[in-house]
Amino acid sequence: MGARVKIETLGLMKQRGEPIAVLTCYDHPTAVFQDGAGVDVIFVGDSVGVNVLGYDSPQQVTMGDMRHHTRAVRRGVVDALLMADLPYRSYETPAQAVKNARQLALAGAEVVKLEGGRNVIGQVEALVREGIPVVGHVGYTPQTRTGKRPVFGDRAEDALDVLKDAHALASAGALGVVLECVPERVAEVVTERVPIPTIGIGAGRVCDGQVLVAHDMLGVHKSRYRFVKAYADLEGAMQQAFASYVNEVKAHRFPQDKHRFKIKSAELRRFNLRAEEALWPSKS
Ligand code: KIV
Repeated sequence: MGARVKIETLGLMKQRGEPIAVLTCYDHPTAVFQDGAGVDVIFVGDSVGVNVLGYDSPQQVTMGDMRHHTRAVRRGVVDALLMADLPYRSYETPAQAVKNARQLALAGAEVVKLEGGRNVIGQVEALVREGIPVVGHVGYTPQTRTGKRPVFGDRAEDALDVLKDAHALASAGALGVVLECVPERVAEVVTERVPIPTIGIGAGRVCDGQVLVAHDMLGVHKSRYRFVKAYADLEGAMQQAFASYVNEVKAHRFPQDKHRFKIKSAELRRFNLRAEEALWPSKS
């Protein structure tokens, strides 16, 4: 078992220059594996909608979905910090953000994440006032930018927006900020200038930490994004396993002798007699 990652650990890691490893997670066994592998922050992202619930868009994810998956992940996390996303339209006002963040906290989240920077500062301040640790998310924000994933911040004005948003989040007391699909040189400036940890996804090598969607890095779906590295081919492995199972069942090769339970012959004889009586009871 590693050391428990606490809220204050992330800031200390930034100070020490120790990279923060973050992965999305939606279920209990994955949480156990990630926790055992030393992932620092296990993150129940609203990408659960597209990756496991079959939704077309993160906008369809509900608070009910997030509570359900957060509870499952909570049961598997021992050392990592558990962060959960506030889904689309669940934090439109500071009061709504606090109410829904409390529900995620009851489900086991220690940190909540919301998308936005200066546009959600009221919400971030309200959460901080209530003692709820919060992480912002700037650059490309999947909940509101539908369609193709673009690079965000490759024009000076947009890059400045990313910096101002990250800075505003830090000033409002956010614990960290996710930078998504931001040019590396812009992420570098943000990481240097902003006192809270930056967690990059498609933001190059310079952020204080990295986050990937676990389904992408496991190769469950072939990712189209250049910033994803596939560390496994689960799609291939699962398809092969399912096809082998079907073939073996159809060919009577599964189950085999070693997969069956046995009964002693005396018990079997007694059973056969009793079965006769149970099905065709004698008239006497
Ligand atoms: O929900 C999610 O997976 C995310 C990542 C893209 C950071 O927000």
